[in-house]
Amino acid sequence: MAKIIGGLTSSHIPAVGNAIENNLQQEPYWKRFFDGYEPAKEWLKKAAPDVVIVVYNDHGLNFFLDKVPTFALGCADIYENADEGWGLKPQAPFPGDAELSWHIAESLVEQEFDICTCQEMLVDHGFVNPLRALYGTLKEWPVKTIPLAVNVVQHPVPTAARCLKLGRALGKAIESYPEDTRVVIFGTGGMSHQLQGERAGLIDVDFDIECMDKIATEPEWFTQFSNSEIMRRTGTEGIETIMWLVMRGALQDDAKLIHKHYHAPISNTGAGVMVLENQY
Ligand code: DHB
Ligand code: FE
Repeated sequence: MAKIIGGLTSSHIPAVGNAIENNLQQEPYWKRFFDGYEPAKEWLKKAAPDVVIVVYNDHGLNFFLDKVPTFALGCADIYENADEGWGLKPQAPFPGDAELSWHIAESLVEQEFDICTCQEMLVDHGFVNPLRALYGTLKEWPVKTIPLAVNVVQHPVPTAARCLKLGRALGKAIESYPEDTRVVIFGTGGMSHQLQGERAGLIDVDFDIECMDKIATEPEWFTQFSNSEIMRRTGTEGIETIMWLVMRGALQDDAKLIHKHYHAPISNTGAGVMVLENQY
């Protein structure tokens, strides 16, 4: 049977892709941020997943504002990256696992999550940069990937509570897959940030740190907040952090915290790296 080894959180900011491209990891601005990834990279190597499910948001590369599914699952054997601006070089295509994707889609629909299925999907910095931060820049990726896109761009966006429930359904979907497949789930994006308007540059370090603690130990805590409250506190793009709850919901309630690191500011955000491991 498939097994969820654990979950991991990561920033997706475009500047990370450019820092990796230009080998800036040891520069004073970047060093502490990238050092926070080292224990996560080590854990991931040992976890040796066959498949990584990346919960992320598209920023207009695959879905534009005319058509935005609330939740969309990649159901392809390959996902291409493309030039979306930001000076980011398109990365090598990411192998998928269409068979597992369709199993997940079927199970989610049975559990009343009527997910949009995508047999073609361009993946943007939201998906690519967490993988690059954790695996490096590679010509061939050593793992299969499944993109799970959450709309946090065009309102109305789903609630934190809905994301946690989706995660629980995702966990059941994966664990009912009959193949021996090791799965790790990435919750990406966040944390507090606002990219435009009068409050551009807003970061709430205290709230970010509290969110990391609570998402690890008591994720239901986050569901007390409405999306307006989350955005008031963490900025309009701070809402991205609700995607972490999809990852968290798919893990065991008592998943063990293996690593936690917070750094702010990096580009315009507070960035959190966290590793949680299921206990068998
Ligand atoms: C930044 C953050 C994002 O989430 C994003 O999608 C683009 C840019 C930033 O901090 O610069
Ligand atoms: Fe973003």
